[in-house]
Amino acid sequence: MNNTSTNGKVYLIGAGPGEAKLLTIKAAEAIAASDVLVYDYLVNPEVLAYSRRGAELVYVGKRAAAPSISQAEINHLLIERARQGQIVARLKGGDPFIFGRGGEEAEALVEAGIEWQVIPGISAGVAAAAYAGIPLTHRGYASSVAFITGHDSRKSRSDVDWHQAAHFADTLVIFMCAETIRDIARALIEGGRKSSTPIAIIRWGTYEDQQVFAGTLEDLADENEAHETLDIRPPAIAIVGEVVLLKDKLNWFKHQAFELGAHALLNR
Ligand SMILES: C[S@@+](CC[C@H](N)C(=O)[O-])C[C@H]1O[C@@H](n2cnc3c(N)ncnc32)[C@H](O)[C@@H]1O
Repeated sequence: MNNTSTNGKVYLIGAGPGEAKLLTIKAAEAIAASDVLVYDYLVNPEVLAYSRRGAELVYVGKRAAAPSISQAEINHLLIERARQGQIVARLKGGDPFIFGRGGEEAEALVEAGIEWQVIPGISAGVAAAAYAGIPLTHRGYASSVAFITGHDSRKSRSDVDWHQAAHFADTLVIFMCAETIRDIARALIEGGRKSSTPIAIIRWGTYEDQQVFAGTLEDLADENEAHETLDIRPPAIAIVGEVVLLKDKLNWFKHQAFELGAHALLNR
């Protein structure tokens, strides 16, 4: 462990799920106090407007053609800038400690002896559901909720045991599942979740162009070739459980809605 003393500091900031106004006041203040902003793909660029004039903006998210910057390079960047005495705003989509590798970055800062703090953000797991009219818990439908990754970046497939996951909680919130959701739906049914269990898949949650695909696990698990027309690309989050039944009654945010299932898709 290197205890290099420095006047610099790193704020690990949750920039919220999308809609810029879902940024917390504490996050906006930290952004305004920073010399450099290091931000990811899923950070709404509108939140960068809170930065002070002359602050440096460093994008470290996905790049169209070029390879993305590695986690080790990002850690190095944060540490070096703080050692130079800079105040660094490290902006991540949603909450930094929910599937955001914020924990890994915090560990690197601790090991380098850098002053840091985390500012939690509203996770897409909570906000996309809310903007789709889905309360994750409800006395009549669900008393537990689990956040699960549908994808493990170190492997081509998630390392979650989906047969077990079928029973993790009444409501399952599945991140990073755009490519894997049909396999996951099949595994949840095999694991004992009813095939009629409602599911909603939310793309670009909280943004004006939010899309919500809804149906049952069976609709997704069905091998019917009509599903080949189902085109769900990231960022998408799936909500599985009876709470999804409330989405039409509680539908307060205007968005595009699609029904899952061969019949609905064929008629699109
Ligand atoms: C690397 S994880 C980061 C999660 C983030 N830390 C959070 O708390 O929301 C990225 C995944 O979050 C989900 N996600 C993030 N923003 C989203 C949004 N606006 N709508 C739907 N899903 C979103 C998607 O599953 C996406 O693949």
